[in-house]
Amino acid sequence: MTASRSAVPTNSVEAALDAVLGDAREHRGGDLADYIPELASADREQFGIALVTMSGHVYEAGDARVPFSIQSISKPLVYAMVLDRIGLDGVHTVVGSEPSGEAFNAASFDDAGHPRNPMINAGAIATTALFPSGSGSGRGPGSGSGAGAGAGSGAGAGSGRFDGILAGLSLFAGRDLDVDEVVYRSEKGTAHRNRGLAHLMAAAGALSGDPDEAVDDYVRQCAVRVTTVDLAVAAATLAGGGLNPVTGVQVVTPESARHALSLMASCGMYDRAGEWMLRVGLPAKSGVSGGIIAASPGRMGLGVFAPPLDPAGNSLRGVAALTELSQRYGLHMLNLPRRTHPFLVEDEGAGRLRVLVRGDVDFVASETLIRHLEEVAAAGGITSILVDLSGATGIAPIAMELLRGELGFLKGIEIELAHPPNG
Ligand code: DON
Repeated sequence: MTASRSAVPTNSVEAALDAVLGDAREHRGGDLADYIPELASADREQFGIALVTMSGHVYEAGDARVPFSIQSISKPLVYAMVLDRIGLDGVHTVVGSEPSGEAFNAASFDDAGHPRNPMINAGAIATTALFPSGSGSGRGPGSGSGAGAGAGSGAGAGSGRFDGILAGLSLFAGRDLDVDEVVYRSEKGTAHRNRGLAHLMAAAGALSGDPDEAVDDYVRQCAVRVTTVDLAVAAATLAGGGLNPVTGVQVVTPESARHALSLMASCGMYDRAGEWMLRVGLPAKSGVSGGIIAASPGRMGLGVFAPPLDPAGNSLRGVAALTELSQRYGLHMLNLPRRTHPFLVEDEGAGRLRVLVRGDVDFVASETLIRHLEEVAAAGGITSILVDLSGATGIAPIAMELLRGELGFLKGIEIELAHPPNG
């Protein structure tokens, strides 16, 4: 491999990432994915990691610029793009949303013959088949409402469909990606199992259009060439509500990004999804070439790459690195949230209070404020309160509704809500 290595950390964040690589390198063993012959020739020692923040800063260590095929990490990204184009119901009348608890290539179907979820091979092939041909990289009708398209509608075929998929994956990475033709041909020649899954789904009415064309586009999608940095940018795009923090492009809607993260959390690590959630606690997706993405919503995207795999098909060193990183950086998504106090109180004298509200006002912040106002009212001596919202960075609709509603409950005090940030 001729790609550059960035072995020298340029700041303390990169030094910390480098230390994580050093520790995880101790994990030896694992197998290369030789059922795709080209992947069996990977360099077992390559190991890269990248972290992309919500402000678009890229930190990297090790072999983070070495190219490899994206494989199954394409699945949540294509799923999000298809959601954008045909809606949640459009996808999920065809593909389930339950964890399979089985291997990524299992014939895991529900009683109607529909694949269990879009993260296993069967569900990903069916999802790729739903990508509308000719929809390019632009977003379609939006997600969430459900366009009601079932199998047979919204289906694309052939290279038009793949062009749209490649354009969308490029938007996730923030640069023009291409296909590793050698990997594509290598997998195409041995994709008997995936072809079998596609034909079973076609027989059950769970796959749009021609099953062989769907497998061909899916195999191409898996052969798209990326680096660990590309993966971290894509993960950061999902973590940031579909907005690529490096390019500033809204790649998918916030709802589609959230749906993709939801299925990554429950199904992204296949039959290791439960243990992953316990020990790492981040929505993630692995690929058989050795990549893993993990997204910490609103905080960062992570990418890691090390080819040897554990028996579940997840990168052995990648899992070790992300486990350590999550623990050291406190990234588990079920950690107790740390809250800052949402307001400051100034006594202006003569029975007047001014309450300066700060930060994002959600349900919890507004409930804390309401409780304080009620305590003030009960204590007596205050005749007017100005609730100044100009320091709030955002206010959730429920918070505004509760604050306005509370005005009717606070008797004997004149309360004014001034300068709400969004109207
Ligand atoms: O379809 C396949 O088998 C591969 N193209 C992708 C599988 C994969 O990456 C599973 N991930 N761990």
